[in-house]
Amino acid sequence: MARKLFSEYFYNNISYLGAALAIVVFVIECILFGMEFLSAGANSYLSLFTYVMLPPILIFGLFLIPLGAFYKKRDIRLGRTSDAPATLVIDLNNPSHRNAGIVFIVGTTILLVMTAIGSYKAFNYTESVVFCGTTCHGIMKPEYTAYMKSPHARVKCVDCHIGSGAGWYVHSKLSGARQVLKTFLNDYARPIPVPVQDLRPAKDTCEECHWPGKSFGAIELERSYFSGEAKENSRWNVRMLMHVSGKEQGNYGIHAHMNNDNAIYYVADDEKRQKISWVKSVNKKGEETIYTTKDSEHNKNVPSEEKIRKMDCIDCHSRPSHHYEAPMPLVNRAIAEGKINSDIPFIKAKAVEVLAKKYTTEEQAVSDIRSKLLAYYKDKQSAYYVSHEKEIHDSIEQVVVLFKNNIFPEMKVRWDEYPDNIGHMISLGCFRCHDGEHSTTSGKAITRDCGVCHAIIEQGPAGNTEKSVDGLPFQHPFNGDESWKEMKCSDCHSGAY
Ligand code: HEC
Ligand code: HEC
Ligand code: HEC
Ligand code: HEC
Ligand code: HEC
Ligand code: HEC
Repeated sequence: MARKLFSEYFYNNISYLGAALAIVVFVIECILFGMEFLSAGANSYLSLFTYVMLPPILIFGLFLIPLGAFYKKRDIRLGRTSDAPATLVIDLNNPSHRNAGIVFIVGTTILLVMTAIGSYKAFNYTESVVFCGTTCHGIMKPEYTAYMKSPHARVKCVDCHIGSGAGWYVHSKLSGARQVLKTFLNDYARPIPVPVQDLRPAKDTCEECHWPGKSFGAIELERSYFSGEAKENSRWNVRMLMHVSGKEQGNYGIHAHMNNDNAIYYVADDEKRQKISWVKSVNKKGEETIYTTKDSEHNKNVPSEEKIRKMDCIDCHSRPSHHYEAPMPLVNRAIAEGKINSDIPFIKAKAVEVLAKKYTTEEQAVSDIRSKLLAYYKDKQSAYYVSHEKEIHDSIEQVVVLFKNNIFPEMKVRWDEYPDNIGHMISLGCFRCHDGEHSTTSGKAITRDCGVCHAIIEQGPAGNTEKSVDGLPFQHPFNGDESWKEMKCSDCHSGAY
């Protein structure tokens, strides 16, 4: 008995199983480790095995060893087994004990070092863009695709979704584990709901890189539009200055919203935060102003505390990294950049039409887009088609690219599913509050004045625009329609018409 290294309790089937499991997984881990070291670049599936899936099995194996001993000890106490325990005797003068001791110490040290490296690697790996963006394949494809061509393509997913600090790290890993499980069970919502409730306040994420007090002055936007009604896709240009912040003195401009002077709180009546019926502005002195719509349910009863959200960066910049664009701006830009040939008759209207149709899979969409456009030009514009076959084919392929980069039928991801709140043309955006219909009891409304947020400094048909540095009254492109004065832009503009 004295020759045995461990207490008698450890000699039982459960402990044997645990030890076997631990050893097998340990050997596999060593091999995977080696492969990882030798291979260039990260392989997300290999890493998923090495750092996320196998370690718990190893730990489970190790856990079985004392568990087996515990049961055996209990069985002996209850007299269920006759094996009497022997006392542990370690005799370093005994060569077999000495060897076992050395093996044990060296083994434990290696295991500890590998665990340390492993956890560090696991940490880095689960923080990496590759893990977040590609491990779950199709699910994150829309977010990942949009992210890769966004201004934040070099910012890690976790910098916005988690931020720094141990508490949030644990919080995110717990919800992350739940998400991985749901992925395996194929039990997740399509489209994925926006995470705004779980997202950290922008102060701890965006503002780690962007300084909210930074003065941008005015930012110039230049837009070109092409008519969807004219055969020649006539062009209309608009140039405007966005008053982001900074009129010489004071806290004026769009960013004044989240700057120190006003804190704005709101209550949304829907999950996508598109219907806002109660808004509160608190100035530096602590004076509150409350704006509501006529039909707001909060006119009588004050909304409960947990429904109220403090406005931050994300309430305007809702798509800083996953911007799914609508067909109208997509096609306008592609024509302006010369990717789609503007000489092709009605190409603006036709491209928007095929992009806006609902499809069930990307494959079906791509084949439909090609065949529909081709059929139109072959049948309805046959004279033009015969002499411009190549231009037409090239432009059709560009439309396919626009589709693949912005619309993801399998995940039900489109521009109308995830509205961008930065403007007001295709979705309500700023006009969720700035529609002239949110007012105080004394009748003061949140402004809808076209000159408050931007100044139009140039507009009109290409080659014949009007210009003024002081700002021009808006002229509705192409048709001079005046209904925008009474209606919201998004009443007519869905991004697709
Ligand atoms: C610049 C910050 C930023 C980065 C970087 C970023 N995200 Fe996001 N992400 C957001 C914001 C903000 C939202 C939600 C906005 C909202 O609530 O409307 C969001 C939403 C999401 C959603 C919910 C679905 C959706 O489209 O709204 C998923 C999934 C997602 N992100 C995954 C990722 C992945 C994967 C990466 C890295 C490849 C990543 N994000 C990188 C800011 C970021
Ligand atoms: C890790 C740093 C980092 C974080 C976190 C971050 N950003 Fe950025 N952001 C950048 C950098 C760098 C750029 C500039 C990219 C360029 O100019 O090419 C940028 C650009 C932008 C722009 C200008 C986009 C454009 O069209 O040029 C906006 C708006 C913006 N960020 C908003 C946000 C918001 C909102 C968040 C939080 C959800 C956020 N950022 C989080 C680093 C960050
Ligand atoms: C009230 C809405 C609103 C809020 C809140 C807001 N922004 Fe902006 N921001 C804008 C608008 C509008 C622009 C002008 C550019 C545009 O229209 O795309 C802008 C411009 C920017 C730019 C410069 C973009 C460029 O093209 O160079 C950055 C960076 C930026 N915002 C970051 C932030 C950050 C960080 C926060 C939170 C601290 C924030 N914004 C909060 C509306 C807002
Ligand atoms: C949740 C409601 C809400 C949303 C959404 C919103 N705002 Fe505001 N905004 C307000 C309120 C309330 C005020 C007035 C603050 C006060 O009471 O002084 C205001 C004031 C402003 C002002 C100053 C107006 C002035 O007369 O000086 C600007 C500029 C502005 N907002 C720009 C924007 C832009 C741009 C967007 C969209 C990207 C936007 N806001 C979205 C609620 C909102
Ligand atoms: C509360 C601020 C605000 C008010 C009020 C406002 N706008 Fe805008 N407007 C914006 C922002 C923000 C954008 C988007 C800039 C961008 O796309 O980055 C925008 C974009 C536009 C565009 C370009 C549309 C596009 O998507 O290409 C036009 C045209 C325009 N506004 C006209 C108007 C007119 C006309 C009015 C008055 C009825 C008005 N705006 C009132 C904030 C405002
Ligand atoms: C009564 C419906 C209606 C309203 C309201 C309306 N529009 Fe339009 N808008 C149209 C139609 C129809 C066209 C298409 C004209 C064409 O393609 O020849 C158009 C075209 C445009 C275009 C050119 C876009 C393109 O790619 O063809 C812009 C920009 C535009 N509108 C801006 C606005 C803005 C900004 C508002 C709100 C201030 C607004 N519109 C309100 C009906 C409307």
